[in-house]
Amino acid sequence: MGGQNPYIEAAKYTLPAKKYKIKFVREGQTIEVDPEKLPYGHDGLPGSILDISQGAHMGLDHACGGVCACSTCHVIVHEGLESCNEATDAELDQLDDAPGLTVKSRLGCQCVPDGTMDLVVEIPEWNKNYAKEAEH
Ligand code: FES
Repeated sequence: MGGQNPYIEAAKYTLPAKKYKIKFVREGQTIEVDPEKLPYGHDGLPGSILDISQGAHMGLDHACGGVCACSTCHVIVHEGLESCNEATDAELDQLDDAPGLTVKSRLGCQCVPDGTMDLVVEIPEWNKNYAKEAEH
């Protein structure tokens, strides 16, 4: 799926100019993000945590295909949140429906790090999709 929701304000973001790392705490894996290889997946904003999670097969759920129309891609950015784009009102509205909301919560499909910091990200247990998708 992928693409942009035409009914909401477009998210503003800056793509990284250099490599940086995202540690997925529950999975115990650290991914090096290479800006030259973005996008990694095909859902969510290019360079978003969902996009990177897809490329690294972290299993972050994303029921709406990454267009800011659900809250299944809820992640908690424990470190590095300052380097991510600002959440739009549409993202904050969707986050209101996410279970276990914290002050560091974001929608993975809308949250794009600019690469100036390494991130520590938690995918809440209830947002894990354990089904393995075949490579396309
Ligand atoms: S996948 Fe639906 S809002 Fe992110």
